[in-house]
Amino acid sequence: MNPPEFKEKFKKKYSKLLGDELETFLEWSLKPLQKTIRVNTNKITRKKLITLLEKKGWTVKPLKYYENGLKISNNNTALGNTLEHFLGYYYVQESASMLPPIILNPEKNESILDSCAAPGSKTTQLSMMMENKGIIVANDVSIGRVKILSSNLQRTGCENVIITRNTATSFHVRQNEFDKILVDAPCSATGAIRKKYDIIRQWNENTPIKMCGLQKQILYSCLQALKKGGELVYSTCTLEPEENENVVNHAIKKFGVKLLPAKIKGFKTRPGITNWDEEKYDPTIKKCARIYPQDNNTEGFFIAKMKK
Ligand SMILES: C[S@@+](CC[C@H](N)C(=O)[O-])C[C@H]1O[C@@H](n2cnc3c(N)ncnc32)[C@H](O)[C@@H]1O
Repeated sequence: MNPPEFKEKFKKKYSKLLGDELETFLEWSLKPLQKTIRVNTNKITRKKLITLLEKKGWTVKPLKYYENGLKISNNNTALGNTLEHFLGYYYVQESASMLPPIILNPEKNESILDSCAAPGSKTTQLSMMMENKGIIVANDVSIGRVKILSSNLQRTGCENVIITRNTATSFHVRQNEFDKILVDAPCSATGAIRKKYDIIRQWNENTPIKMCGLQKQILYSCLQALKKGGELVYSTCTLEPEENENVVNHAIKKFGVKLLPAKIKGFKTRPGITNWDEEKYDPTIKKCARIYPQDNNTEGFFIAKMKK
């Protein structure tokens, strides 16, 4: 399918962000994504899974920046249509989407809230990082998506997860309760154009302004549910400053959170921006990570890590 044309207003906005790298960004936004999966160590070791997949004739190469992330090529079957997938030995997950859980770094026996969790790529990753110990509350507002979350949790053998269906704007009723929180927020998804060209068609300049109201409410509510000294990762698959740095700036101003570096060894990130539309953001926002598709051959993402 031929991709739709990028709108002029989109190009103008992204040239403000990227300058003479605009064309490279647009070009990379249209390239097919590399196929990646995440080993589910709840069920199998990385070595055993690689052996099984190579026996099928697949080419399997580990990601440089995450040992449980595997690049797949020469697969003669769709990644989601194998016995190994059905048995929960791996999760089909885009490589940039593996980063927010790594940056949150959950530990065994902690209490974790995954506030916008469905369909569960990151919940299942958090669960395996915790070796199925501790407790994860996996929440999503959408009943249809919660059903998929539930079946993914069962398939991948995640036994330390409780599902809730609420708006994530309501978590302030659970004051100071969680050690760590992931807010993988609903967003305009301009980083995910490689996965879904329709995002080009659907984009309009007002969406980020509408989205950031909900994102600020979710983040503010979740920060109240975080223990003092606890850590929260805010992530989106959009590159819109209104939904990223602007939301984080709001949390710094209203809640006094401190930012921690959002870094992954061996993975190129760019600092959060501190000026947008004549607004100056807190200078520590440089600690956030902007992830452009052209930098590591992934989706675009934004990740901020904060401490209460
Ligand atoms: C980016 S997706 C989450 C992806 C998920 N974290 C994963 O890794 O598989 C955003 C999710 O937010 C959910 N959502 C939208 N509004 C919400 C709200 N007010 N409260 C909780 N979840 C919400 C959507 O249903 C969607 O599943």
